[in-house]
Amino acid sequence: MKKLITAVALAATLMCGTVQAAPMTIKFAHVVAEKTPKGRMANKFKELAEERLPGKVVVEVYPNSQLFGDDKVLEAMLLGDVQLAAPSLSKFSRYTKQLDIFDLPFLFKDMAAVDRFQQGPAGQKLLNSLEKKGLLGLGYLHNGLKQMSAFKPLRVPADAKGLKFRIQASDVLAAQFEQLGAAPVKKPFSEVFTLLQTKAIDGTENPWSNTYSKKFFEVQPYITETDHGLLDYMVVTSAEFWTGLPADVRDVLKKSLDEALAYGNQIAAEQAMSDRQKIIDSKRSEVIALTEAERAQWVEAMKPVWQKFEDRIGKDLIEAALQANQ
Ligand code: SIN
Repeated sequence: MKKLITAVALAATLMCGTVQAAPMTIKFAHVVAEKTPKGRMANKFKELAEERLPGKVVVEVYPNSQLFGDDKVLEAMLLGDVQLAAPSLSKFSRYTKQLDIFDLPFLFKDMAAVDRFQQGPAGQKLLNSLEKKGLLGLGYLHNGLKQMSAFKPLRVPADAKGLKFRIQASDVLAAQFEQLGAAPVKKPFSEVFTLLQTKAIDGTENPWSNTYSKKFFEVQPYITETDHGLLDYMVVTSAEFWTGLPADVRDVLKKSLDEALAYGNQIAAEQAMSDRQKIIDSKRSEVIALTEAERAQWVEAMKPVWQKFEDRIGKDLIEAALQANQ
């Protein structure tokens, strides 16, 4: 009798069309603040995906290392604990050597060249460079070029000698600071402010939006406009998750992500300039512009890093990146 009542109730519910599968939850973890190109891109993706897949998909965005830091997020992704992340390109060293290319100092002449390389055949091929590890690259996002900051003015490479700089977990970045006679210290992004505040390190390198949103400028009295390297991102997912999605849902998610990335890439330069200006206006930190001659010294000092990593990255790939400068 009980079974009959349950079956009748189920049939009635089905007729009313009220039984629905629970929406799928997609967790998107990142380490920066919401008012950055990455934070804004992730929120835009959530907005577009939920609007286009109502009741089917819920996107939970976790900023500020709330869910995982970049040191853990890729392992967590392979375990299915998070579905999307956008680590900086410097953080894939453990997974592939090819993406090290993006850390070569003074490789790209400007962000337009970065864009040409990323969107061209060589850059698009690199999106597949993590496949063997079970990860898929879905697209690139700009943050921008990095500046160096310290407790003392850095005008020429010799000024960095003997200082401790926090770096991301990248051997190329380690070599870059060793080349200056400085000591690189690999630490997670979430620790940088405290490390600077307690003077456990002397300096760091970051683009304007990170320096502003994480208040590094409040604990670093000098920021030099070195523009010496790139900090961009790759949006990644696990191959198992992505290929297991129904094709129609995957298509809508990809379209939403492509649009969110286009939006993020469009606002990145503008955000860099406005955050730079806010730092200048705060008067907490002096922004130092380099002369042509000073800049040439930084280029020269860091150049040997290229030879050191040429075999590991591949000559052809470096050549393709240089072509994008033309
Ligand atoms: C980020 O922009 O995602 C963080 C970069 C860093 O670790 O310095």
